[in-house]
Amino acid sequence: MDRIEISRRTFVGTAGTLAAGALLALAGCGNGGSSSAAGGAGTGSAASSASSTSASAASASSSAPASKSLIVLWSWSGNTLKMAERVSELSGAEIYRIEAADPYPEDYDACADRAKQKQDDGTYPAIANPVADWGSYDTVFMGYPIWWYELPMIVQGFVRDHDWTGKTVVPFNSHEGSGDGGTYDDLREMTGATVLDGIAIRGGDVSSSLDKIDEWYAGLSL
Ligand SMILES: Cc1cc2nc3c(=O)[nH]c(=O)nc-3n(C[C@H](O)[C@H](O)[C@H](O)COP(=O)(O)O)c2cc1C
Repeated sequence: MDRIEISRRTFVGTAGTLAAGALLALAGCGNGGSSSAAGGAGTGSAASSASSTSASAASASSSAPASKSLIVLWSWSGNTLKMAERVSELSGAEIYRIEAADPYPEDYDACADRAKQKQDDGTYPAIANPVADWGSYDTVFMGYPIWWYELPMIVQGFVRDHDWTGKTVVPFNSHEGSGDGGTYDDLREMTGATVLDGIAIRGGDVSSSLDKIDEWYAGLSL
């Protein structure tokens, strides 16, 4: 409860001093996020929305079964997408970008209203592109922005609809003051899986903080 109150004050402070449009600019918004920057809009498979090639070929010669990783991403305005692209470069994992069946509005206020409404109602937006071959992944990177101090409802819905048995979850997120908002602990509780320590970066700082992602990634016990 404490962490929510602290996060709430910080974000409200940010939001209160900035017009919605300015916050949007800070957040790097400008695209409603309904299309897949990874190039696989609406195609429904992780492979088709990949932004990089899989590392599986590199481990093909090993006698141990290849460990397979996937980056699950929700990004409305592109900040977390930039983080995901770095994680993909580092890990060789493909990016599966969640797409809402009913795309979120491009307008910040309208998006914020819809997000709040879903949270208040406790409803999970339908996902347009189911992930392919879920069972084959051992490690799942989870990238998302903080929305209203929490995991966006569409991400919560994704988490609830998938079996996390035996998987290692590696979260990363962007925000505008809430940090991780307690979402790494939430993911631990929701998945029951091993959830490693994530990295949280302010949306406007992502481009200049890629070295922090490199350091964080190097320190993961994967
Ligand atoms: C609907 C909505 C709600 C948000 N709520 C919060 C919040 O509670 N705390 C916070 O720090 N940032 C909040 N933000 C800011 C985003 O977390 C931040 O801009 C993030 O970098 C956006 O990531 P994206 O570009 O990948 O969508 C919110 C943004 C939106 C659109």
